[in-house]
Amino acid sequence: MYNSKIAGLGFYVPENIVTNDDLTQWMDTSDEWIQERTGIKQRHWIADDSNETSATMGAEAAKIAIERAGMTKDDIDFIVFATLSPDYYFPGCGVQIQDMLGMDTIGAIDIRNQCSGFIYGLATADQFIKTGMYQNVLVIGAEYHSNGLDKTTRGRGVSVIFGDGAGACVLTRTEDQTKGILSSHLHSEGKHAEELVVKSPSIKHWVPEIIDSNGEDLSYFPYMNGTFVFKNAVVRFSEVIMEGLTANQLSPTDIDLFIPHQANLRIAQFVQQKFKLSNDQVYNNIMNYGNTTAASIIIALTEAWEKGKIKDGDLVVLAAFGSGFTWGSTIIRW
Ligand code: COA
Repeated sequence: MYNSKIAGLGFYVPENIVTNDDLTQWMDTSDEWIQERTGIKQRHWIADDSNETSATMGAEAAKIAIERAGMTKDDIDFIVFATLSPDYYFPGCGVQIQDMLGMDTIGAIDIRNQCSGFIYGLATADQFIKTGMYQNVLVIGAEYHSNGLDKTTRGRGVSVIFGDGAGACVLTRTEDQTKGILSSHLHSEGKHAEELVVKSPSIKHWVPEIIDSNGEDLSYFPYMNGTFVFKNAVVRFSEVIMEGLTANQLSPTDIDLFIPHQANLRIAQFVQQKFKLSNDQVYNNIMNYGNTTAASIIIALTEAWEKGKIKDGDLVVLAAFGSGFTWGSTIIRW
């Protein structure tokens, strides 16, 4: 069986920066509240007059990742696109990437696993490579949250957290069994689906019903039971990291770099303390981008790599938790 390793990384965020102070023009909030509870200082939101979307941002990130892999679009065999904010209800963004990058008629799938989307996407790509079906798979995580948030005081518990952006990597075949993705660990618990959810429009509750409510029906805005999500996140993060380490006969002291999904700086710090990791062993960038859901891990991984924080042979641990609930980890020997 083959192994898969990351050959190229890239990310793209829209130019428009929205600081915590900027948010106070739309809602009753403060820089102090947001930083204290989440660690976030600013996020990138696609500007109102921009044509950017999850697919266009994903395409930009993908171009960088493919170039850094020393490849061209023609070397890619398959596309995996993770997002909860696709351009269309259907089809998914993956097929748009095939078109935007002018690729041959290769296969493309979308992954609907929210904050765990990139971990699920990477695991999916890894399996295609391990079995020998494909040699190079493009994995993208991208989100366009800002157009779907309730930016009034009513929605402040959710809207201050989320940011727009995209990241991508090229996963490639290697015959070196000691390098690359060592294992992936995926979980779900659907009984908590409504604790972090956008309920509508759905086929069972379609657009005319929302319009008929004359503004009463707000089920198209994200709902989050923040305290419940927080409590579950810290437990599941810890469990799934240990599961990944144990499966590879490793322990927390073996971790060179831990990159958590950028949900909330307090969650990342809780996990860091639990595993007694130093600041050098954890990479966080939620301060600058907010929570970009399926894009967050791949943006952070790319940024850490760009800053020279990942060396050949390092043990890199990725972990995510989010809506579904879904959660997962990936253990990588770089
Ligand atoms: N600015 C100012 N006040 C705000 C606010 C904001 N942006 N958002 C909420 N508040 C207020 C609430 O209205 C509430 O006021 P009240 O006590 O008068 O009713 C108060 O702050 C506390 O709200 P609460 O929701 O209990 O805050 P919290 O301490 O649980 O923090 C989160 C909220 C969202 C930061 C926190 O629950 C969290 O981070 N949860 C995990 C979220 C997460 O990681 N989501 C992504 C999952 S992948």
